[in-house]
Amino acid sequence: MGKHIIANWKMNPSSMADAIALARALDAEGLVIAPPALYLASLRDIVKKSALGAQNIFWEEEGAYTGELSPAQLKDSGAQYVIVGHSERRALGETNEMVGKKIHATLAHGLTPILCVGETADEREAGQRDMVLKNEVDAAMKHAQGEHQMIIAYEPIWAIGSGTPSTPENALEAIRALTGFLGSYPHIGATFIYGGSVDAKTIDAFLAHDEIAGVLVGGASLDPEEMHAIMESAKRHA
Ligand code: PGA
Repeated sequence: MGKHIIANWKMNPSSMADAIALARALDAEGLVIAPPALYLASLRDIVKKSALGAQNIFWEEEGAYTGELSPAQLKDSGAQYVIVGHSERRALGETNEMVGKKIHATLAHGLTPILCVGETADEREAGQRDMVLKNEVDAAMKHAQGEHQMIIAYEPIWAIGSGTPSTPENALEAIRALTGFLGSYPHIGATFIYGGSVDAKTIDAFLAHDEIAGVLVGGASLDPEEMHAIMESAKRHA
């Protein structure tokens, strides 16, 4: 099975022209590009091989929710995947309860969630990694009724944007713990990936493991050279 590579552009780039140029440069089989949502509809006509994802979603269908984007709007703009519960959104106040509602809305519209879970540095030092992962998974899965596929990204908060990824061993331990927790939800077909400061230099160490089914790439996803190396690694380890 091929590896899943998710390019999370976060709040970049600053213009439609740059977004189009970057999407053209990155476009590849097995890649999900998650641009700022306002670029989705334009990029749908640009990418030929990649799928598109949103970085966030709102759980209501329509109505008076200033600034939010509904599942139907994201789908209509070309999104097939939705990143849900990224730690940068949780840091802005997104709770486990909100993440659960977003998972429900994503699945209800036939979109594939990329659920992000992970511990802070303090939680890691206190030996709470697996407890945090279990809480985050249980809160999200409460809202996932029916048979569904989803991607679960282990994203230790201390590694994101730090320039230094987790060791592959820590990622494997976390993914094994997550695999165990998902045993309580047999209706969910979960695929586990890693995210946090992955780049061209470190990608092989993660993708070499069968249990790591892909990566979520932030900073490096804005650099076509980095991404070409990452996609080559994905091919080698498919
Ligand atoms: P990073 O971001 O690759 O820049 O650390 C990863 C992420 O946000 O998941």
